[in-house]
Amino acid sequence: MSQKYNDTPQNKNRFTITAALPYTNGPIHIGHLAGVYVPADIYARYLRLKGKDVAFICGSDEHGAAIPMKAKKEGVTPQEIIDKYNGIIKKSFEEFGISFDNYSRTSAKIHHKTASGFFKKMYEDGKFIEEITEQLYDEEAQQFLADRFVVGTCPKCNHDGAYGDQCESCGSSLNATDLINPKSTISGSIPVLRETKHWFLPLDQYDTFLREWIIKGHKKDWKSNVYGQVKSWIDEGLKARAVTRDLDWGIPVPVEGAEGKVLYVWFDAPIGYISSTKEWAEREGKDWEPYWKDSRLIHFIGKDNIVFHCIIFPAMLQAHGDFILPENVPANEFLNLEGQKLSTSKNWAVWLHEYLEDFPEKQDVLRYTLTANAPENKDNDFTWKDFQARNNNELVAIFGNFINRVIVLTHKYYDGKIPAPNTFSDIDTQTLQELKKYPEIISNSIEKYRFREASQELMNVARLGNKYLADEEPWKVIKQDEERVKTVMYVALQIAAGLAVLSEPFLPFTSNNLKKMLAFGTLNNIPAWNDIAEKDVLLPAEHTVEKASLLFTKVEDEEIQKQLDRLEATKKANQASIAEENATVEPQKDTITFDDFSKLDIRVGTILEAEKMPKADKLLVLKVDTGLDVRTIVSGIAKSFTPEEIVGKQVSVLVNLAPRKLRGVESEGMILMTENKDGKLVFLNPDEANIPNGKTIN
Ligand code: 2FM
Ligand code: ZN
Repeated sequence: MSQKYNDTPQNKNRFTITAALPYTNGPIHIGHLAGVYVPADIYARYLRLKGKDVAFICGSDEHGAAIPMKAKKEGVTPQEIIDKYNGIIKKSFEEFGISFDNYSRTSAKIHHKTASGFFKKMYEDGKFIEEITEQLYDEEAQQFLADRFVVGTCPKCNHDGAYGDQCESCGSSLNATDLINPKSTISGSIPVLRETKHWFLPLDQYDTFLREWIIKGHKKDWKSNVYGQVKSWIDEGLKARAVTRDLDWGIPVPVEGAEGKVLYVWFDAPIGYISSTKEWAEREGKDWEPYWKDSRLIHFIGKDNIVFHCIIFPAMLQAHGDFILPENVPANEFLNLEGQKLSTSKNWAVWLHEYLEDFPEKQDVLRYTLTANAPENKDNDFTWKDFQARNNNELVAIFGNFINRVIVLTHKYYDGKIPAPNTFSDIDTQTLQELKKYPEIISNSIEKYRFREASQELMNVARLGNKYLADEEPWKVIKQDEERVKTVMYVALQIAAGLAVLSEPFLPFTSNNLKKMLAFGTLNNIPAWNDIAEKDVLLPAEHTVEKASLLFTKVEDEEIQKQLDRLEATKKANQASIAEENATVEPQKDTITFDDFSKLDIRVGTILEAEKMPKADKLLVLKVDTGLDVRTIVSGIAKSFTPEEIVGKQVSVLVNLAPRKLRGVESEGMILMTENKDGKLVFLNPDEANIPNGKTIN
């Protein structure tokens, strides 16, 4: 049955742009900036320049298991954690010129009310399934485990450190009970299953809607990384997902019989976009509703958020019924740093607040480097050498150099007053025509979310100016033909004005400085984006520009070396802590002779049966086919394995160990085991090679 949905607003000029709400459990780094906030900001600034009606919305994501976990680690309250990081993050965004119309917090009253109301409406409309299910429970911590509170092996890709909500290795979204060998991240213990009631969003019922909206619909113009991921999730079959949690941090579930339960963080967080819009509208005396009912909704996110923004939130919006669906979700891939994955826990990052200590006033350099090298279609690497090269060879040598020459010469020849041009030569006309093409060229790239390409086109405007000056050589011509130089400088100044406007989305601080230098403030008609293509005069003759000041300064080798040294020190510190972790290695035992060793008869065997030893929580009683016989072996592995998961496994067995009785059962051998880095027992098995039982190991 086909389902109606609304993703085509009447108003094509209204945009609701959201940027993923960052978790307030740490500061933000270059990966966040490159993946989400810089592209979103370029887009929002561009649309404002085009005269669109824009709400650029963000805020802090302050719920979820990660917050109380971080609080516990730091020995403070969750409230203290969110206040601290909300402050740091908000300040970083301001310092880097991320021009949100509103930056809210999910701890805000307006958000609690909005998210509660959203849930309630869905609840009353019968959109949830209420179910008592078995969930993982940590008996030591006396707490249910979900999301980040539990780690285990990913059932899809076998990655060892998958979380209860998502595997960061393959990107799959998971339920905690899907994990193989789950372990509590609170106490380290192995959880048990315990019954609890929760509310589920039956995603399977949205299969038809999602297929029609995304696959049959026009979503082929979504980025291929996004479309591909979403399609494969839908094709794999969608399962119901719990949207409530047993946790004491979050928004209480607003129905009876839900005491002690809160909304799942991924249920409330995207509703935060709506709450933040409401907060903004209230402050500005606007109506929030058109921005969620008749607007082009664009979500900027990182690739780990795709499923939530392309499947779960749209299903929620569809279920709720009052709101528009996203037009696009231009998710980026990840940024690495000097060839390694960015990692908060390993401190492998360039933190924004630290960057500004070393490179004050160089926000645009980082914005530019991250855009020119953005991880748009694949993971990309940030290197300090590339940062230096982008700054020295492009921003300083091309953009800065052009502007500096134009302003310095205008002052040198005309005391800063723009001369009236004489007749334009072919080169002049062509150059001015060329300039006129750039607003559209850059628009095209931005509207396709190709910000790297757009940033290079912007640099081409500066190249156009540089080439023009290099070809026309006003500093030479001035000696023979002063009238010609007036025209050349006039043309060059039009390019400078174009650059001041076109650079605004990418380099807002530079654009501002340049506009000041060109004295935009004293113009009767301040050039706008469209004027560059439509008007012949951006800066009129007689207009006086300010004195030159440097837009960009060189980054020296020593400054780069300092950053590389810092990373090297981080690497060493990480290695040292790994070495420390491994320092518990037991000392080597006394030397034995080969004869001693050859007395050990170790063979490959297969576990045929396994059951728990009654009243012993560590012991399993195994029946093992040793190739010689089938014998009973009592093994202390019950804390690491359930009987079911080891039946059929091949293992190494010491078969000539003298039999001994354990709890009344005679054990005739020993299974060889070791511990992995998490302290879990693992078999020393013959690596799935299907070796005949009884083969000796030596
Ligand atoms: O991945 C994250 O950092 C999440 N806090 C993003 C949330 S986006 C939205 F839904 F709020
Ligand atoms: Zn995985």
